[in-house]
Amino acid sequence: MIQLTKPLALAADHGGYELKEAVKKHLDELELAYQDFGTLDGASCDYPQIAQPACNAVVNGECSLALLFCGTGVGISMAANKIRGIRACCCSDVFSAEFTRRHNDANALCMGGRVVGAGLACSLVDAFLNAEFEGERHQRRVNMLKDIEDAQAAL
Ligand code: RB5
Repeated sequence: MIQLTKPLALAADHGGYELKEAVKKHLDELELAYQDFGTLDGASCDYPQIAQPACNAVVNGECSLALLFCGTGVGISMAANKIRGIRACCCSDVFSAEFTRRHNDANALCMGGRVVGAGLACSLVDAFLNAEFEGERHQRRVNMLKDIEDAQAAL
C-alpha cells in the first residue's frame, strides 16, 4: 500500500454519507490518515459546498488526495473539477480508478453511494491509492489540462 505523507481529504453529501463512513473504516484498518470535511451527520446538504473545502485542502497541499462521495458520484465530481488544480474522476470500476491515477494524475476519486456498495468502494480506493502517475506522454496531456484552466481563467 502506498505511503501517504499527508492525510486524505474526505467529503460527502447526504447521498454519499454512508459510503464515506464505510470507507473511513477501511482507511482506519489500513492505518491511513484522513481529514473528514463532512457531512458529519447525513442530513441533506449540497454537494458543491461540500466538495470545495476538501478540494482546496488538496490544492493547497494540506491533504494528499481527495475521496469524494455523493449519490451518483457525478455531482461532486463536477464540483471538484471546477476547482483549479483538481483532476477528479467519478469511478465505479477498478480499472478506471487505477488508470485515472496512472494516466490522468487524478487527485480526487469520486464515488456514488447509490451506485457502488461498500466492498467495491474499498476496492476502488485501494486501486486509486496504490497506483502511481506514469508521467512521460501522460504528463504532456495533464499539462494541457492546466493550459485549458489557464486559458479559461484569462477570459
Ligand atoms: C442528492 O439527492 C443527489 O442529487 C446528489 O447526492 C448527487 O447524486 C448529485 O450528483
